[in-house]
Amino acid sequence: MKGITKRFPGVVALSKVSLSLARGEVLALMGENGAGKSTLMKILGGAHLPDEGQVLLDGKSVELHSVREAKKLGIALIHQELMLAANLDIAANIFLGTERASGGLLLPLPRRALHARARALMDRVGLRLPPHTPVASLTAGQMQMVEIAKALALDARILIMDEPTSSLTTEESKQLFSIIRQLKSEGMGIIYISHRMDEVLELSDRITVLRDGQYVGDLSRSDATHDKIVALMVGRELSGQYFPSRTLGAPQRPRLVVENLLVPGAPAGVSFTAHEGEILGFAGLIGAGRTELMQTIFGITPALSGRVLLDGKALRAESARDAINQGVFLAPEDRKQHGLVLGMSIAQNTSLPDIANYARFGWLDRKREQLVARQEKDRLKIKAPSIEQRVVNLSGGNQQKVVLGKWLAMNPKVLILDEPTRGIDVGAKAEIYRQMVNLAEAGITILMVSSDMEEVLGMSDRVVVMHERRIKGSVDRKEATQERIATLMTGSPTSKEAAA
Ligand SMILES: Nc1ncnc2c1ncn2[C@@H]1O[C@H](COP(=O)(O)OP(=O)(O)OP(=O)(O)O)[C@@H](O)[C@H]1O
Ligand SMILES: [Mg+2]
Repeated sequence: MKGITKRFPGVVALSKVSLSLARGEVLALMGENGAGKSTLMKILGGAHLPDEGQVLLDGKSVELHSVREAKKLGIALIHQELMLAANLDIAANIFLGTERASGGLLLPLPRRALHARARALMDRVGLRLPPHTPVASLTAGQMQMVEIAKALALDARILIMDEPTSSLTTEESKQLFSIIRQLKSEGMGIIYISHRMDEVLELSDRITVLRDGQYVGDLSRSDATHDKIVALMVGRELSGQYFPSRTLGAPQRPRLVVENLLVPGAPAGVSFTAHEGEILGFAGLIGAGRTELMQTIFGITPALSGRVLLDGKALRAESARDAINQGVFLAPEDRKQHGLVLGMSIAQNTSLPDIANYARFGWLDRKREQLVARQEKDRLKIKAPSIEQRVVNLSGGNQQKVVLGKWLAMNPKVLILDEPTRGIDVGAKAEIYRQMVNLAEAGITILMVSSDMEEVLGMSDRVVVMHERRIKGSVDRKEATQERIATLMTGSPTSKEAAA
């Protein structure tokens, strides 16, 4: 890609950016939230046209007017926000839009043959499920694997993955890496966007760094270090500690007491207590039941039995609205589906969950809405030309910040954060961690579901570990080690089941 420029109203997303990829090379593309990574890759994947610049494939200039054309040339893009058809099954999703693979003939394959081919591709990505499983029932991690199988079905020569591991567990990421290495050895060129430094260092042959829509440099694997990458990304040395330090006093009053709460589909009820001002981490593999548990507490899916006490009184949450009215908030893992109204502005999204409080004589108090939105935009350093920008136009990481901002604006009693920093760059992560500690120190209870072990260890006062929808135990900050948590996470029989 040579001299690529792309403008959006009010934003120059890319300015004269160049990028190259060799056969069999794994290139990491890095940069802070809003640096232009996804935009550059959407251009390569045919989803956006550049305003200037050209794309050369095997030395020949190509015009990529559509995703279909890019696919024909063997370029497959897996989006940051997965885009599967939720109403179809795995097999149908894998072959959706892959007429090329059937030689241009649109003969409907018999179901058996289709499923057999799907099965073979699913095996390559380690997806052990029946091909007729509806995609809607998959976890984020499994959906990612379907996306990769889909690209394999295309026989892609260039595979672009936009933050593929942000929703995967350590195990699944390892599996993905071995798939990537395999594809690399077959000569596929792979571009990989990630905010996770360790995996970039492990996986890539070369790293290209963008900052504010500009190309700032390349690092070869042998040159690259954590500090060098960060310095290129943020344009300065990032000083200080990553996780804020925190002095823990004696445990305060119980804030949220969960007693024998039976989540639909779970084998047994779960119990745990979260205290005032506590950051309670929830570790577990994807599918361990953490998100479901949080959704039940939040009133999205009703519990079959058991109860939840908030400050000693029953929390009656038959809907999310009920939970919110009582001071319990959830920032969900899948922001596109549950966290944001994409067509609305940053300001509108900020006031939405608390709209009653923005009413003045029956009218929306726009001044207050704008004041609060501006405050959250500054506090979380949301990158957008203004608070009137529609959320659909923000970069992935900045969307996540808007979700957090709208909850922070409401002074919650209990804040449930499901994968709070998924897809967020280093600088902003540190900022979110600082905010979390501030909130906890102000007495707010935080339940943090996280698949990022570093984050679980760095942020939690106590870690609750779940496995197959049960709580396997809880570990205090002082005793929390990666080994200990990992052992509980995999449901090792050596750990006795403990009430958290
Ligand atoms: N369709 C659009 N309309 C308007 N602005 C856009 C659009 N798409 C992207 N932008 C803007 O372009 C800039 C680059 O966004 P991009 O999504 O490429 O960032 P990114 O590097 O992928 O960030 P992240 O790590 O958060 O995913 C951002 O300022 C973003 O708000
Ligand atoms: Mg992006």
